[in-house]
Amino acid sequence: LPDETLPDEAHSGEAQPGKIVILGAGAIGQLIFHQLSIHGLAPVLMARDAEAGSQELALTDLDGETLKRQAQFIDQTGLASCELLIVCVKAYQVEAALLPLLKTLSTDTHILLLHNGLGPHLSVAPHLAGRGLSLGTTSQGALKLGRWQIKQTGAGLTQLGHAQGAPLAANLRQALLAAISNSEWCEPILPMLWQKLAINIAINPLTAINDCPNGKLADAQFRPTILALIGEVIAVAKAEGIALERQQLTERVYRVIELTAGNYSSMHQDIHHGRQTEIEAITGYLLSRAAVHGIAAPVNEAIYRQLKSLECDDKA
Ligand code: PAF
Repeated sequence: LPDETLPDEAHSGEAQPGKIVILGAGAIGQLIFHQLSIHGLAPVLMARDAEAGSQELALTDLDGETLKRQAQFIDQTGLASCELLIVCVKAYQVEAALLPLLKTLSTDTHILLLHNGLGPHLSVAPHLAGRGLSLGTTSQGALKLGRWQIKQTGAGLTQLGHAQGAPLAANLRQALLAAISNSEWCEPILPMLWQKLAINIAINPLTAINDCPNGKLADAQFRPTILALIGEVIAVAKAEGIALERQQLTERVYRVIELTAGNYSSMHQDIHHGRQTEIEAITGYLLSRAAVHGIAAPVNEAIYRQLKSLECDDKA
């Protein structure tokens, strides 16, 4: 059947609804919801623009099959049994979305931040009152076809790992890794997040500024800029105690450019649709850490300024 409605019970196994809450119902939040539901983890969702209640969500998977399932949306009162809160909002929304919930969340609730870029882990950490925190990055591709309909466009790598406080319970960790395809647990996680940051720094702003798909960046004209951007990331990461290997990282950036050649980066799409971009958590984060260490990052600074002026043009 091309369209199939899966009853929740079909996969519900032992899990009790509400133990895993996904905060943010954008494309990645919905994709994680479907993946966890398929594995019987009975996640529930919480989103700014969705009232508590039931909502049908549709996923077109990598084989082109569309699966529909009922999702339970909760409000703050539904957080009582939450053992794991997966935060899937954009980096610039994390503080505003998460901090007001902390007074309701048990101090045993574990928090997993899953967004592009870095920064929110530093700003939310002092508010967590000992709660365990994990961080992650996902290169899974998902596109919104409608408010409640997404299409999975790629099965990229997802890397998760412990950041501070009590570690995520082993059963939840195993369940997440089993549910999210091509995922791994990394200790330490920060070097992985810095590698992903470097990929986003090298690709995202350049595609937005040059109004091109990722693949265009393979042209020789972009190579000096890409190498300079990567070089600045390596210098700042080193000052942060994170060793990044230049050749490996450069190869990884070019592999992503090749593998996603036809895609428009998330920042290109944000500029194209006149939305706020994630530049502050990507290039902006690098520049703030460079400033802390007194390191010059002139190429990233120039790119940051160009991108910010595009963002302003869009809002004008
Ligand atoms: O932000 C994005 O678009 C993606 O992280 C990536 C890897 C650059 C591919 O487009």
